[in-house]
Amino acid sequence: MSPSEGNAKRRSITLHMVSSLDGFIAKKDNSVSWLESTGSVYEAGVSISEEEARAFVKAIDCYVLGSRTYEHALELGWPYGDTPAVVVTAREWPPARKSVEFYSGDLKTLVDVKLAPRYRNIWLVGGAMLCQRFLEVGLVDEIKLTIAPVLLGEGLRLFAGSLTEKRWNLNNVVAYKNGFVELSYSAPPA
Ligand SMILES: NC(=O)c1ccc[n+]([C@@H]2O[C@H](COP(=O)([O-])OP(=O)(O)OC[C@H]3O[C@@H](n4cnc5c(N)ncnc54)[C@H](OP(=O)(O)O)[C@@H]3O)[C@@H](O)[C@H]2O)c1
Repeated sequence: MSPSEGNAKRRSITLHMVSSLDGFIAKKDNSVSWLESTGSVYEAGVSISEEEARAFVKAIDCYVLGSRTYEHALELGWPYGDTPAVVVTAREWPPARKSVEFYSGDLKTLVDVKLAPRYRNIWLVGGAMLCQRFLEVGLVDEIKLTIAPVLLGEGLRLFAGSLTEKRWNLNNVVAYKNGFVELSYSAPPA
């Protein structure tokens, strides 16, 4: 096994998105109030403490995002702290935060050459277009899909393009007190 194959095996890419009940990940006007919790609505659900949430986020080694998600994240207030983040774009960008780098080119090269030797727990956090590309080329190991308890009616579709049929393995389901449900799937063997 070559070193790059060894690294490629150790890394794990988790695609994480939040979708509405009707399969949208963003509203047309990009407003995000639909993602906010409206309090405890499901008594049997779980909740996580701030400490648990911090520990969870700390275990993420690197974020990968498309340029439109990057622009929106900057507008909202950068949510990824000092954790390394790679923005996929073919455009030139002004220098950004120290933790952010820009990448243009083949996605398999991005993963095998740039990410896998440095990071293990890699999170692909949107948007729809970049996630679609990662899925098309078989670079996603796990899908974590959080379903928000809301119908949006219109907006940007999750996985809108043409993906080929593939059955994923359900690994875990977590229902939260606030009515959000997180579904975790692992990729079928290649
Ligand atoms: N609900 C959620 O969980 C969630 C999560 C993330 C984002 N969002 C929302 O989704 C929206 C953005 O999603 P989106 O689908 O419009 O855009 P996106 O995937 O964030 O970004 C698309 C851009 O990424 C770059 N890109 C994608 N694939 C590439 C490739 N193979 N090579 C080079 N560059 C590539 C291109 O940038 P250039 O044009 O710069 O070359 C492309 O225009 C925002 O509204 C955001 O708030 C929602």
